[in-house]
Amino acid sequence: MARPVPDHVRDSIRSTKAALRGVCDTEARFAQIRARMEDEAIEIRRVTDAGGSVIPEVPFEQIEHNAVSAETITEIRRRGCVVIRGVFPRATAEQWNRDLGEYLATNDYHDRLNAGVADDFFDNLSFGNPQIFDIYWSLPQVLARQAESMARTKRFLNGLWDVNAPAGPEFDPAHDFVYADRIRRRDPGDSTLGLAPHIDTGSFERWVDPAYRAVYANLFSDDWTSYDPWRAAHRTQTREFDSATVCSAFRTFQGWTALTTQGPHTGTLRLLPLVDGIAHVLLRSLQPDVADDELLLAEPGRVLGADEASHPELMHGMVSIPEVEPGDTVWWHPDVIHGVEDEHQGEEQANVMYIAATPRCPKNLMYARQQAAHFLDGRSSPDFKPRDFEVGFSGRATVDDLTELGRAQMAL
Ligand SMILES: [Fe+2]
Repeated sequence: MARPVPDHVRDSIRSTKAALRGVCDTEARFAQIRARMEDEAIEIRRVTDAGGSVIPEVPFEQIEHNAVSAETITEIRRRGCVVIRGVFPRATAEQWNRDLGEYLATNDYHDRLNAGVADDFFDNLSFGNPQIFDIYWSLPQVLARQAESMARTKRFLNGLWDVNAPAGPEFDPAHDFVYADRIRRRDPGDSTLGLAPHIDTGSFERWVDPAYRAVYANLFSDDWTSYDPWRAAHRTQTREFDSATVCSAFRTFQGWTALTTQGPHTGTLRLLPLVDGIAHVLLRSLQPDVADDELLLAEPGRVLGADEASHPELMHGMVSIPEVEPGDTVWWHPDVIHGVEDEHQGEEQANVMYIAATPRCPKNLMYARQQAAHFLDGRSSPDFKPRDFEVGFSGRATVDDLTELGRAQMAL
């Protein structure tokens, strides 16, 4: 059941639509964008149906030796996603997976959860709650976040962005803060825990927030193809409606690290491998069949959805990621539409640690400082429900487990 949309949000949607229609023929623009996306989706489907994948893949050794080819970088920039393989040795990731299971079991996670409440973050998505565990400070998570190979990987990813901005670099691509997130452990046979296609970090804000308006301005200019999804300017300045869905950090890439083997049909990530699919989403809501104070699947405090009825061209291009092994990592641009398969048809758990790329910038420093206090107490990371399960957990990571790099990433 949708919550009422506040009047001031409806007013800003109305005035934003009027302003955008004043600078751009939004119907003609949408027709151009839709035609492009249709062609792209057909191509993605053709390659995927033939057993291939358009999602770029890079072995970690190439990152370590600065040997990623220009062609691969062009593909990553086009697709907005990449699988980076072997960031951790397989045996390390497998051991972490076992350690996480033990950490949850010895601390009676399930009993504590049953005393808790339902997560309303994903209320507007059709498949129900994911099998995500609200733990942030287990030793495996802390060790993975502060690993040199992870830092190296994030430097590479941050470096794909153009940081030039009117008031100086938008962020420092060479250094990262931690954004402590949770873990997924999905059981085989599970069919209740999928996530419908969506984009995180801002729903209606993607149209009305002044910083997002600046980010997407070129989509409404004379030449929409001049829009550069990798131009960082204004990206760390966006302000989202305060809610349970808000990500207070700026992520150059969302991502996770695989702890088990998983791929198509095993309940894992699906995405639209097109970095500018957002152009379709933004223009679609400006078409005449949408009321002047509505933006289709964009509501305050919810993730921004995309669906078959409104975005058939985009849905046609949604594909599962290729099979990944323990220690591989998957990354996607913050504008990329993604979801989770609605059924896990495999035989093993599909487990990941969510670890995003959150480079140094004032926004991320502010979050890291807040987060550090939560870490020291074992409380949930500040963006998430204050379940604070780990306060009384044994085996939780402490400040003594942090390396010098780990302390810097935690602003400690
Ligand atoms: Fe998401």
